[in-house]
Amino acid sequence: MTTPSQLLQVRNLRVDVGARNVLKSVSLDVAPGALVVLMGANGSGKSTLGLALAGHPSYRVVSGQAQFGGQDLLALNAQERARAGLFLSFQVPPDIPGVKNNLFIRSALNAVREAREQAPLDAFDFLASARAAAQQLGLPEAMLGRPVNEGFSGGERKRNELLQLALLQPRLAVLDEIDSGMDVDGVRAVVQLVQNLRAQGTAFVVVSHYLQLIESLEPDTVLRLDQGCIAESGDLELARRIARTGYAHAAQAVGA
Ligand SMILES: Nc1ncnc2c1ncn2[C@@H]1O[C@H](COP(=O)(O)OP(=O)(O)O)[C@@H](O)[C@H]1O
Ligand SMILES: [Mg+2]
Repeated sequence: MTTPSQLLQVRNLRVDVGARNVLKSVSLDVAPGALVVLMGANGSGKSTLGLALAGHPSYRVVSGQAQFGGQDLLALNAQERARAGLFLSFQVPPDIPGVKNNLFIRSALNAVREAREQAPLDAFDFLASARAAAQQLGLPEAMLGRPVNEGFSGGERKRNELLQLALLQPRLAVLDEIDSGMDVDGVRAVVQLVQNLRAQGTAFVVVSHYLQLIESLEPDTVLRLDQGCIAESGDLELARRIARTGYAHAAQAVGA
C-alpha cells in the first residue's frame, strides 16, 4: 500500500474508545518531512487519532490500515512504534511519580538508538545533550532530576515534551496541542524546534487551534476532522477560514 513518497499512509481507520465509536473512517498521508495540521472542534477525535497511531491500548483500531515507513503500523505495539520513529506529545502529559526525568528520557533515547543501530549514550554524554536542549527550550535544568512531570506547570510539561522530541529526533512527530499552556517564548521554541527537525527530514502532524502558530509552521496540508472523518483538506486558507468562521459554520459549509 505504501508508495515510497509517503512516510505514513492511513486508510479508513475506525477507532473505538470503550464501547463508543470515535473515528469512523480516517484516511491521511504524510510524506517524509511534510507538516500536516489537524484541526477540528473539541471532541472531534484529534487526540484519539494521535493515541491510536501511537498504539495506546485503550484506543482500539477496529478496522482500516496504517503503514509507517513501509511497515504495518497496526501490527506493532506502542514500544515498537516508538522504536520505528513515531513520537507523540500528549495533549495532557501525565506525571510518572518515582521515575526520574533524565533516566526516563535516556532510556527512551537509548531504546530508539538501539533500533537505529547506534551505540547507547552513557549518563555523562546524555546529560550534556539534555542540558543543552533543555536550555534552548527554556526548561530549568533542575527539571531533569525530578520525577517526570511531577509538580511541573502546564507550560513546563509541554516544554518537557519538546525536550523528548528534540532528543529523540523521530521520523514522524504528532504534536497534540503542544502550544496549549505555553507562553510566547514557549510557542517560539515550538516553531524553532519544528523548523530544525523538519530541515533534517522529520515529518509532523500538528494538532492546534492557534492560527498564529499554524501560520508560523508553514504547513503543507491542513485537515479538518469532523464526525469521525476528514471532512475537509486544504492549505493555510482552510485554517484561516476556520479561525474566521468557526467549526459550526465550517460543518454547514460542506454539508457535514
Ligand atoms: N479515554 C476515553 N474514555 C472515554 N471517552 C473518550 C476517551 N478518550 C476520548 N473519548 C471521547 O472521544 C471523543 C473524542 O475525544 P478526543 O479524541 O479527545 O477529541 P479532541 O482531541 O478532538 O478534542 C470525545 O467525545 C471524548 O469524550
Ligand atoms: Mg484533544
